[in-house]
Amino acid sequence: MQNTSVELGFFEAVEQRRSVRIFDQSGPFDHEVVQKCLEAAILSPNSSNLQLFELVRVPETSPLKSPLAKLCMGQKAASTARELVVVVTRRDLWKSRAKANYDYIKSTYEGKPDKKLKQALGYYGNLIPKLYSKYFGWSIIKKVISWWVGLRRPMVREVGETEVRISVHKSAALVSMTFMLGMKASGYDTCPMEGFDSDRVKKLLNLPAAAEICMIIGCGKGLPEGIYGERFRIPKEELISLR
Ligand SMILES: Cc1cc2nc3c(=O)[nH]c(=O)nc-3n(C[C@H](O)[C@H](O)[C@H](O)COP(=O)(O)O)c2cc1C
Repeated sequence: MQNTSVELGFFEAVEQRRSVRIFDQSGPFDHEVVQKCLEAAILSPNSSNLQLFELVRVPETSPLKSPLAKLCMGQKAASTARELVVVVTRRDLWKSRAKANYDYIKSTYEGKPDKKLKQALGYYGNLIPKLYSKYFGWSIIKKVISWWVGLRRPMVREVGETEVRISVHKSAALVSMTFMLGMKASGYDTCPMEGFDSDRVKKLLNLPAAAEICMIIGCGKGLPEGIYGERFRIPKEELISLR
């Protein structure tokens, strides 16, 4: 089912990846591969390049591994995992991440008078703060403005606080997917999980209150009995359409 010496091509990795719920306890597991795949995963596209996520590694040697697995409702995908990766959203870091982008663009392109540079700086210095700032009533005001402007011209509608949170989770989910494909391509298996006690996980990992857990990914060499059934998908004609 897996061979750590083989690197799979993209479509092979996509086809062979399954959510595996029981991992091999005895053989070697190269934790460096997890690091390598996470470094690849942070190259995933993400909303406004704000990179509002944090990837927390909890390997089998960590004293937190067993308590964390228990908080995944005792799932075997967590208890047998050789390492757990907690994909955390950090919407709260928007200011520093916007500033990092702003500073990067400024230092890289400064001195070259350019409309595009002004636009980029305006994006991180003006638009992002408008979207991400949080104060009482602001979410509703943003939605009313979007509705009002949208009466006359195309307008982004997903500007409320819930949609901002969804956007941050979208990006974290893409990071997760890149990671899981990277692991499969490297000969390892994964299981994404959303069955966990997020409050207790945050406490255990000492995460700030504003952090949210996007998913926890169990990693290891999957055992055949860890695949619970044939892969099932709704007919592709129902899932893919052409207009
Ligand atoms: C966001 C998300 C959460 C999931 N949560 C769990 C989970 O808590 N436990 C579990 O066993 N599988 C979980 N899965 C795995 C799905 O059940 C699995 O991806 C789906 O059945 C399709 O199977 P496949 O991944 O083998 O193709 C989750 C998958 C995703 C994307």
